[in-house]
Amino acid sequence: MSTAISPTAYNYKVVRQFAIMTVVWGILGMGLGVFIASQLVWPELNFGLPWTSFGRLRPLHTNLVIFAFGGCALFATSYYVVQRTCQTRLISDSLAAFTFWGWQAVIVGAIITLPLGYTTTKEYAELEWPLAILLAIVWVTYGLVFFGTITKRKTKHIYVGNWFYGAFIVVTAMLHIVNHASLPVSFFKSYSAYAGATDAMIQWWYGHNAVGFFLTTGFLGMMYYFVPKQAERPIYSYRLSIVHFWALITLYIWAGPHHLHYTALPDWAQSLGMAMSIILLAPSWGGMINGMMTLSGAWHKLRTDPILRFLVVSLAFYGMSTFEGPMMAIKTVNSLSHYTDWTIGHVHAGALGWVAMISIGAIYHMIPKLFGRAQMHSVGLINAHFWLATIGTVLYIASMWVNGITQGLMWRAINDDGTLTYSFVEALQASHPGYIVRALGGAFFASGMFLMAYNVWRTVRASDPAEAEAAAKIAVVGAH
Ligand code: HEM
Ligand code: HEM
Repeated sequence: MSTAISPTAYNYKVVRQFAIMTVVWGILGMGLGVFIASQLVWPELNFGLPWTSFGRLRPLHTNLVIFAFGGCALFATSYYVVQRTCQTRLISDSLAAFTFWGWQAVIVGAIITLPLGYTTTKEYAELEWPLAILLAIVWVTYGLVFFGTITKRKTKHIYVGNWFYGAFIVVTAMLHIVNHASLPVSFFKSYSAYAGATDAMIQWWYGHNAVGFFLTTGFLGMMYYFVPKQAERPIYSYRLSIVHFWALITLYIWAGPHHLHYTALPDWAQSLGMAMSIILLAPSWGGMINGMMTLSGAWHKLRTDPILRFLVVSLAFYGMSTFEGPMMAIKTVNSLSHYTDWTIGHVHAGALGWVAMISIGAIYHMIPKLFGRAQMHSVGLINAHFWLATIGTVLYIASMWVNGITQGLMWRAINDDGTLTYSFVEALQASHPGYIVRALGGAFFASGMFLMAYNVWRTVRASDPAEAEAAAKIAVVGAH
């Protein structure tokens, strides 16, 4: 449904493209999540083939949900927000189009190479060097488009949402480039430039800040724009948002060693990571409270507006996972939680509850505006989606808590003579019911995405190209 938009208006074309692909990749990535969750219930689903085995599909799931689904949501919203808050069109349509096609090419590359077994073996940085280089080029171009647009803004100050998006773009580039430094030995194989404990530390400096900057800071940029817009209230405290920003980005970068407790990493580094993680609770909750309190005087809207409900519940899950994370960073707690499903539950409290829910809310907010409609085709379907997503997330994380704590306690239980009370297989058997509940929760969440796809399709189909163009022009004239 792309239309030729007049050059005076915003570039909504690239926003539309990324917004639609968010839904497409969301379905694929989460569908694959349900599939690998089912493999853990019914191992026959590995089909005895290397390409369809859990070990190869799991990294494809993480790449699809984080970079394809989450990435497209971040591109779409950041391009939308930067134009509207700077009251200006993106600095270059062709560079923006390059980021769209380049990003999709990286994702297609992941879909082909990961099942074939080509991987660097570094978690969340699995893509081999040719794809990693393409990703770096696309990302630097993204930075040029985003910051270039900020420099030609028509507003005096830079809205706080753009600070968060900006930090996410800069730090992600830094993490990706440093962690991917490697020596290629063939087209599909490279070796890391680092060795031993240094390699592990660089990898988890990357891994943790992928969480901190990709899965958190970028989405906080989203929060600072879409929560006030949907609630039709100003942000609760602009001052708090500035403190939130600087405290968050100063602290996050130090917390990586909490992924390497009780390893060969020097003890002082582990303790530093633990201390920084605990302090991180403060800015995380400061941001969450800032978002929540924005609803002061508008709480009644939650009764009728399921989009706002998505946004607010995402903040609740953000608060929950950023309380849980610092607790898990405490070494004694980590000695129980590490290697267990507790970590998986924590991940999805953040991933489903926070990242996916806020993205879904933001996409529902944007789609009618991008396609020149007054609202989404069906508010009832958004409401049904909200309940499927919420129930799905709760089933997922509750089952993983039960599994994680059961596993941790069973693994460490010892008899009087010092032998293990339970074999590993017994702990696995005890986990089986939890895996069934998790697969069910995942299926709930993923089925909500189908409702979304249908709702978006109906909204787009009914859209009038002339109205869409007019909307983009009006948006330029009107306030952000
Ligand atoms: C329908 C929804 C989803 C289902 C059913 C699902 C299922 C799964 C499963 C079964 C695993 C492997 C767990 C294991 O190895 O024991 C996993 C890992 C993971 N998923 Fe999902 N997932 C879903 C959505 C998402 C989303 C939306 C994100 C991110 C935005 C995400 C991020 C991750 C990450 C980061 C891991 C790796 C966790 C770790 O290594 O600790 N997932 N997921
Ligand atoms: C204050 C904030 C947070 C802190 C201090 C924190 C801390 C932790 C800790 C201690 C672990 C377990 C490490 C291990 O035992 O291996 C962990 C794992 C993880 N967390 Fe968080 N977390 C926070 C917020 C979040 C959020 C909001 C998300 C998602 C959006 C998230 C995503 C993850 C992922 C993906 C992993 C698994 C990494 C892996 O092993 O593959 N965390 N986090």
